[in-house]
Amino acid sequence: MKFRQFKFWLVLGAMLCAACANERIMDSANSLSTTANVSNTAAVGNAATPANVAPKLELDVPYVPTHETVVDEMLKMAEVKGTDILYDLGSGDGRIPITAAQRFGTRGVGIDLNPERVKEANANAQKANVTDKVRFIEGDLFEQDFSEATVVTLYLLPDVNLKLRPKILDMKPGTRVVSHNYDMGDWEPEKSKTIQTPNGETHYVYFWRVPEKK
Ligand SMILES: C[S@@+](CC[C@H](N)C(=O)[O-])C[C@H]1O[C@@H](n2cnc3c(N)ncnc32)[C@H](O)[C@@H]1O
Repeated sequence: MKFRQFKFWLVLGAMLCAACANERIMDSANSLSTTANVSNTAAVGNAATPANVAPKLELDVPYVPTHETVVDEMLKMAEVKGTDILYDLGSGDGRIPITAAQRFGTRGVGIDLNPERVKEANANAQKANVTDKVRFIEGDLFEQDFSEATVVTLYLLPDVNLKLRPKILDMKPGTRVVSHNYDMGDWEPEKSKTIQTPNGETHYVYFWRVPEKK
C-alpha cells in the first residue's frame, strides 16, 4: 500500500473511532512514526471538521528527527564546508542546516510543509544565533527550487527518494547528496556507512555526487 493511501485509511480509522488526534502510531515498514493529525486531504472539508481547525497537511513523510550522531556523520560524509549552500528537504526542527551553520558557517535552507516545524526551526536558528546563515521555507519539497544547492540532505522515505531522484540528477554535476537511512534504488552510492547511535539504534547514511550529463 502506498504511504499516502496508508495515511488516508489511518485517518479514516482514527475519525471513526473518535481517536485522539495526536496518538502516535508506528509505521513498522519504515521505522518512522506518524501522527493522526498528519492526514490525507480527503479529510479536509469533511462536515465533521470544525471551521476553526487548521487545514490538514498531506505530508509525504512523518516527522522523525535525525539523531545528532547521524547528523554529524551526514555532514562529515558530504564534507560540508563554509562555502557550501546546503538544502535540507523536509527540514523538521532545522537541526541539519543549523548544525552546518554553527560548525562550518555553511549557508543553509530548510524546506518543510508543516508550518509547526518551520516555526520550530526558526526558533532554533535564533537560539543558535545563525539566522544570518539559515532560513526555512514553508513549502512542498516537490515544488520548491533547490537548484542552487551544493549539498542536499534527506531523511525521507524510499519512494519519496525515488520520486525526487530525476530532479536531483538534473542538478549541477558535482552536487553532493546525503541521505539518512534510505537509498536511491539502483543509483549506487559513492559511500555508505552504518551508524550505531548511543541508544543502540542502527542507522545508515548514503552519499552520492550528481554525475556529469551524458
Ligand atoms: C523524517 S523528518 C526529517 C526531519 C529533518 N530533516 C531531520 O533529518 O531531522 C521528514 C520531514 O519532512 C517533512 N515533509 C513531509 N512531506 C513533505 C513535503 N512534501 N514537503 C516538504 N516537507 C515535507 C515533514 O514535515 C518532516 O518534518
